[in-house]
Amino acid sequence: MANLILIIASQILLLAAVVYAGKGEDFAKTVNRKHFGLRKEKLTFFRVYWHDILSGSNPSSVMIRPPVSNSSFFGAVTAIDNRLTTEVSVNSTLVGQAQGIYAATGQRDLAALMVMNFAFTTGKYNGSTISILGRNAVLTKVREMPVIGGSGLFRFARGYVEARTKWFDQKSGDATVEYSCYVLHY
Ligand SMILES: *[C@@H]1O[C@H](CO)[C@@H](O)[C@H](O)[C@H]1NC(C)=O
Ligand SMILES: *[C@@H]1O[C@H](CO)[C@@H](O)[C@H](O)[C@H]1NC(C)=O
Ligand SMILES: *[C@@H]1O[C@H](CO)[C@@H](O)[C@H](O)[C@H]1NC(C)=O
Repeated sequence: MANLILIIASQILLLAAVVYAGKGEDFAKTVNRKHFGLRKEKLTFFRVYWHDILSGSNPSSVMIRPPVSNSSFFGAVTAIDNRLTTEVSVNSTLVGQAQGIYAATGQRDLAALMVMNFAFTTGKYNGSTISILGRNAVLTKVREMPVIGGSGLFRFARGYVEARTKWFDQKSGDATVEYSCYVLHY
């Protein structure tokens, strides 16, 4: 009798499991973070120089949509594949590319939405990226923007960057901006 109850009970459980799985409720599961090497978070600091080159025959920064107003450039969208180097000079050591888009999103102020990945191409960070998404009030001395993620050695990254314009050519629009990056990752 007890055996029969046990068998019936286990069959009901099995049926429940099949129904549960059939509803697609088992597509996600908790995994042990230690198996992914996610033990101790570290804080990495690095400083790179971002070169926005609009001039010349080979610009790295191209406006793909012109502004709708002249005063604040509102509506302008620019695609970039900018050099990231170790020093202010555009010809200093290349460590990666800043690839993404910035858009003028301030109607009354000069503010850009920055959406870009820093794709590193040297040393142990070769192939790793961090993703930056934030507001860039370009005339402000220091602009802080969030690091919202990363890949490779920067998996699970979060943090922030501080951007400081080091050089700006009013005629061409070319600029060099220092990015001080503070990134938490594993
Ligand atoms: C921008 O300025 C130019 C030249 O001053 C003018 O012709 C044009 O209408 C202006 N555009 C807007 C959207 O204000
Ligand atoms: C960087 O190198 C290019 C090509 O050699 C040269 O034309 C340019 O003047 C250099 N720029 C600076 C700032 O040194
Ligand atoms: C970076 O990685 C790419 C792809 O694996 C490789 O082709 C390239 O040589 C590497 N560069 C450096 C500087 O290690």
